[in-house]
Amino acid sequence: MACFTSCDSRIDMDEPDPSTGLTPRQKDALRSTWKVASVNPVPTGVTFFIRLFKTLPAAMSYFKTFDGMPLSEVEKSGKLRAHASNFMHGVTGMIDSLDDAECLVSIIQKLTINHHRRNIKPETFQAVFGVLLTFLEDTLESKMDQFSKNAWEAVTSVILRIVTKEVEDLEISENDCK
Ligand code: HEM
Repeated sequence: MACFTSCDSRIDMDEPDPSTGLTPRQKDALRSTWKVASVNPVPTGVTFFIRLFKTLPAAMSYFKTFDGMPLSEVEKSGKLRAHASNFMHGVTGMIDSLDDAECLVSIIQKLTINHHRRNIKPETFQAVFGVLLTFLEDTLESKMDQFSKNAWEAVTSVILRIVTKEVEDLEISENDCK
């Protein structure tokens, strides 16, 4: 007797999530690449931040504790290791929530509120994501195939869309209070 149950319950790996547009195949690629990239979160995060500050020196101006410090000192500082840890665990929280869009959106909204207080705009998030993507490509080498690169572009677009909307809402409520 034919049994179709297992077939019926099979996940369509290319069916976009209605909330994020990400497919199960893209989510798998994001989880597996991030798992490798984040195996040593603090040193990896430090290397990422140094790359960020070299590529986008303006990004360092948001980190008041590094004001006037040469990059060689910043690289060795415990504060940078703390930022690196925060950032890497922040990304892990998002990647872990890919299957729970409601949670993912809440994480990103909270992140946006915290960064909006520091006057960090969506354009800066976009620039930082650009550096993150090239950093992941260079770090993961052949593990970051074209499909994974596209998945990272897709997820950072989703994050940026949520950040932008949240900033718009925050600015509206700030103007209402004036
Ligand atoms: C996916 C993107 C990002 C993640 C996951 C992330 C994560 C975090 C986390 C978890 C914290 C600590 C908690 C808090 O104080 O809010 C933090 C703080 C901070 N982030 Fe981000 N961040 C991101 C993007 C950015 C961008 C685009 C900038 C701008 C260059 C930035 C600059 C900062 C600064 C200046 C702090 C405060 C550091 C301090 O003085 O303690 N972050 N970030």
